[in-house]
Amino acid sequence: MARKIEYSALLFAAWFISFSIAVQHDSSVQRSFIIDYDNNTFLKDGQPFQYISGSIHYFRLLPDSWDDRLAKMRAAGLNAVQIYVPWNFHMPRPGQHRFTGSADLDLFLALAQKHDLLAIVRAGPYICAEWDFGGLPAWLLQRNASIVMRSSDPQFLAAVDEWMAVLLPIIARRLYSSGGNVIMVQLENEYGSTGQCDLAYIRHLYQLGRRYLGNQTVLFSTDNTLTCVAKERQFYATIDFGVDGTRSLKDTFAPLRALQPKGPLVNSEYYAGWLDHWSSPHVRVGAQLVADGLARMLAYGVNVNIYMFFGARISATGTAPTRRHLSRSQLRTTMTRQ
Ligand SMILES: *[C@@H]1O[C@H](CO)[C@@H](O)[C@H](O)[C@H]1NC(C)=O
Ligand SMILES: *[C@@H]1O[C@H](CO)[C@@H](O)[C@H](O)[C@H]1NC(C)=O
Ligand SMILES: *[C@@H]1O[C@H](CO)[C@@H](O)[C@H](O)[C@H]1NC(C)=O
Repeated sequence: MARKIEYSALLFAAWFISFSIAVQHDSSVQRSFIIDYDNNTFLKDGQPFQYISGSIHYFRLLPDSWDDRLAKMRAAGLNAVQIYVPWNFHMPRPGQHRFTGSADLDLFLALAQKHDLLAIVRAGPYICAEWDFGGLPAWLLQRNASIVMRSSDPQFLAAVDEWMAVLLPIIARRLYSSGGNVIMVQLENEYGSTGQCDLAYIRHLYQLGRRYLGNQTVLFSTDNTLTCVAKERQFYATIDFGVDGTRSLKDTFAPLRALQPKGPLVNSEYYAGWLDHWSSPHVRVGAQLVADGLARMLAYGVNVNIYMFFGARISATGTAPTRRHLSRSQLRTTMTRQ
């Protein structure tokens, strides 16, 4: 009898453990972020979802200000942030990895999640981002000055593999499906504009994404030149464009729709402004135009990322300091945050 009780206790324990595993498994299945092609929408936990996100460059900010900026982004009504990850910033030398201070990507993602913001990560290897060498490390050139960047040159791919083996597992741990906030990952950036359509390179990146991030993660590309990556139809293709009151959204998306007839519409970079070149006048876009354009896109069901939502810039007040060297204190007084 005593033996029998022991046995049924054991059975109960086994049942309880498998039940708990099943429950845990169920809740992780519910956390999903996928594309519903038939209904032209993203599905978050099975429900149609439209994102309104903003770009912020964590690597251009002091980490002390991350929390405040993210709080303000959430307060502005965004439900996601979009970030680039600069390879050269995180890997200043071969084999040397930096993920602390303003390079603490994991902390930044965790803070965004604390503020109820999903994350769209543009992981490179090339990011543009108006950042030195588009985020490619200068030490690549030391290895071999003839290395062909952003291509299937085996030397370049070997370095990319090294970096992605470090970066993608960090992102994988923060995927929405694993309890984190990362819903989408972009590899490369506006590759179509390079004019060097090396599809072996693009397929290699896609395979890396699948290997580290699994079969469910939405891997996407951003391109207005649709003759390369978008035509390949592996990455989910998105486009980017600024305020344009002259064209209908239907017309704007028509070339993409011709290639990718179904799925949610995405503007990965809605330009609320533009970059300044040294010594040329500061570019401004009227706030009302930006707001109207945004409202039009949201009403049309477009998922929008505002580029930039928050960015630090150095602006000269008064007379233009063209070719004049500013001292540190002058720089500090003219530093404005937009
Ligand atoms: C999505 O599309 C399917 C098939 O067209 C339809 O049955 C379903 O009701 C749609 N779901 C939503 C949420 O609209
Ligand atoms: C340097 O890179 C070029 C271009 O890929 C290649 O042809 C050449 O063999 C490389 N040289 C060395 C020493 O690896
Ligand atoms: C992902 O897809 C590949 C190819 O279809 C398959 O071999 C692999 O088992 C899948 N992995 C998972 C975790 O489902």
